[in-house]
Amino acid sequence: MSERITVDLGERSYDILVGAGLAVQAGKWLAPLARGPLPVVTDANVARLHLAALLDALKQAGIDARPIVMEPGEATKSFRGLEKLCTELLATGVDRGGLIVAFGGGVIGDLAGFAAGVLKRGIDFAQIPTTLLAQVDSSVGGKTGINTVEGKNLVGVFHQPRIVLADTGVLSTLPRRQLLAGYAEVVKYGALGDAAFFEWLEANGSNALAGDAAAIVYAVAHSCRMKAGVVARDEREAGVRALLNLGHTFGHALEAATGYSDRLLHGEGVALGTALAFRLSAKLGLCSGQDAERLIRHLKAVGLPTEIADFPGVRPSADVLLEHMAHDKKVKDGKPTFVLVRGIGQAFVTSDVPIKAVREVLAG
Ligand SMILES: NC(=O)c1ccc[n+]([C@@H]2O[C@H](COP(=O)([O-])OP(=O)(O)OC[C@H]3O[C@@H](n4cnc5c(N)ncnc54)[C@H](O)[C@@H]3O)[C@@H](O)[C@H]2O)c1
Repeated sequence: MSERITVDLGERSYDILVGAGLAVQAGKWLAPLARGPLPVVTDANVARLHLAALLDALKQAGIDARPIVMEPGEATKSFRGLEKLCTELLATGVDRGGLIVAFGGGVIGDLAGFAAGVLKRGIDFAQIPTTLLAQVDSSVGGKTGINTVEGKNLVGVFHQPRIVLADTGVLSTLPRRQLLAGYAEVVKYGALGDAAFFEWLEANGSNALAGDAAAIVYAVAHSCRMKAGVVARDEREAGVRALLNLGHTFGHALEAATGYSDRLLHGEGVALGTALAFRLSAKLGLCSGQDAERLIRHLKAVGLPTEIADFPGVRPSADVLLEHMAHDKKVKDGKPTFVLVRGIGQAFVTSDVPIKAVREVLAG
């Protein structure tokens, strides 16, 4: 039971395969792409749980895999992490005709993808995402990069992978909180552009999260299908790709206000941000209160935060959050850009939002 989605980008097109057990079949998919040594970049958590099985599979396919194990956590996505990784990649002898594998969550995918994009002026890479967030979002679409002291993801390149192998089986070892954070991005796809998918999630989302194999494959594959469709139309975010930022203007402000700490994971910020975007849309008369309620009810039902008061510690004030929004990298002409909705599945982008209404939603 696996699904295949093509990201249609002309000569840079690639397939995303979604299914249980894909990591141990990776040799079959990577052998045609790999020449010479094959660096496999991962983090220590994923290495402990899943690396031996992947290396075995690659060995059986006759591939000379060279594991590189990084520290887990966001701090690895940095100039220091990049330097260390580039040194280790160069030591493997991988050259421009070779392939680099990113085997991990969004941190490893973004870092290894960026290293692949700049090392020797560009080496192909493959994604084997191991978190739900990475499977439905960060491994697809070619955004790669690192964080700096000035902010997140400010240094990076667009570098599309040659293939994405989303093995839903490896999600069984993911901590529940991380699984839920990834699920926020799944809900986001329904909320921004597919009311029927949102309805499916209302009925089946809890089963998918509880490990129902068919349900999780469908949820991941459908999310990838939606992202692939958007990326094919707007690879570099000149237009429609911005819709994927539903919940992110609020979410990024909340993440910044909580110091990108464990208090609020990125996906939790997206859940809360999506709830706030729906509340703001209802307040402005753009969408019905019932649609906002329905969105919030589903996020709550699975255990995601929907109120600023839902996460621990001192609550950031509306002023602090507005200040962070003013510094968001997506600010245009001094005005933050919002993705708002006319209903479930009907998102649009606007910078024309009265700050008074935003403040009221943040203080509410
Ligand atoms: N490039 C993009 O388009 C894009 C989109 C969204 C997010 N991101 C980036 O993604 C990053 C967040 O990604 P993430 O949420 O995957 O975080 P992550 O990579 O830090 O993974 C979360 C945690 O789960 C562990 N883990 C990974 N797979 C596991 C498994 N199968 N079993 C047990 N533990 C496992 C990791 O070691 C880590 O501790 C952020 O840096 C964010 O900026 C990028």
